[in-house]
Amino acid sequence: MRVLITGAHGQVGHELVRLAPAGFTVIALGSAELDISNPEQVASKVVELQPQLIINAAAYTAVDKAESEIDHAYAVNAKGPENLATATGKLGIPLLHISTDYVFSGDATTPYKESDATGPTGVYGASKLAGEMAVAKHCPHHIILRTSWVFGAHGNNFVKTMLRLAQARDELGVVADQQGCPTSAASIAKALWALATEFFKEGGLNWGTYHFSNTPATTWHGFSEEIFRQAVELKMLAKAPKVNPINTVDYPTPAQRPAWSVMDCSLIQEKLNIELSDWRDELAEMLKEITL
Ligand SMILES: NC(=O)c1ccc[n+]([C@@H]2O[C@H](COP(=O)([O-])OP(=O)(O)OC[C@H]3O[C@@H](n4cnc5c(N)ncnc54)[C@H](OP(=O)(O)O)[C@@H]3O)[C@@H](O)[C@H]2O)c1
Repeated sequence: MRVLITGAHGQVGHELVRLAPAGFTVIALGSAELDISNPEQVASKVVELQPQLIINAAAYTAVDKAESEIDHAYAVNAKGPENLATATGKLGIPLLHISTDYVFSGDATTPYKESDATGPTGVYGASKLAGEMAVAKHCPHHIILRTSWVFGAHGNNFVKTMLRLAQARDELGVVADQQGCPTSAASIAKALWALATEFFKEGGLNWGTYHFSNTPATTWHGFSEEIFRQAVELKMLAKAPKVNPINTVDYPTPAQRPAWSVMDCSLIQEKLNIELSDWRDELAEMLKEITL
């Protein structure tokens, strides 16, 4: 069972490689070995390496920089998945692709379902939506897994930023008017491997687009308080800084962030038997890993 992982050195890519179940032959390629935005390279690698399934963990994820690096964001997030989907679609190879809550506008007040209208407000979300559409168009055997607020021991993320800030400050302001679900890179990797395993066992999957995140919903402020609580408990921090709730308007960024990022993840539980985990437990696992 040969599985090609693209973007293998990113947060999720790293966990996919680390958590690969026994019995899989993993071909892990970073951007230096396979640039997904290059159609010829993608087509020739797929023919050369003959994977039986591809997991695309590669993406341009610099949400703010994307506002000024529009071509780069689209090359990786839209053209990249299109290249992979075209190559896999022709050969009948399934493609598991990761997308984002940023395809939605963030105006909702109830959890987004897969069938809800999309409406990205920034370049990153729009480029990821274009990638989703290309995957759906060119590769019939696809899973698009939309996830949110990713954190992991490997790479840069909100947890690491908070821990770094806490070393230097006694007090900080964190946005308290954006709702979403933190999701560990490890849990995403486990879900994708469960799907890959099921595919090889059954010869198929309930293809389509699914929402996947950890539970329950919180705000960045709530997330930061739990990070500090656990970090103090683990003695990673001598004491927790005071966390002042602030509003999005008080923390301007080049890209607009959705106020509501909560996704309804019932479909993936019902149709693909994927269980959801609590991000507080996932955070504990991650913190243990970085203290070792
Ligand atoms: N991070 C989040 O909070 C978040 C939230 C929702 C959804 N997602 C989605 O989750 C997936 C994984 O994200 P992540 O957090 O693991 O991202 P990440 O840590 O930024 O990793 C992305 C990887 O993609 C690689 N990459 C960039 N351009 C490439 C190219 N042209 N060809 C091949 N590889 C390329 C990068 O390699 P280089 O460093 O060498 O460029 C990097 O290792 C993405 O689809 C992302 O959109 C992420």
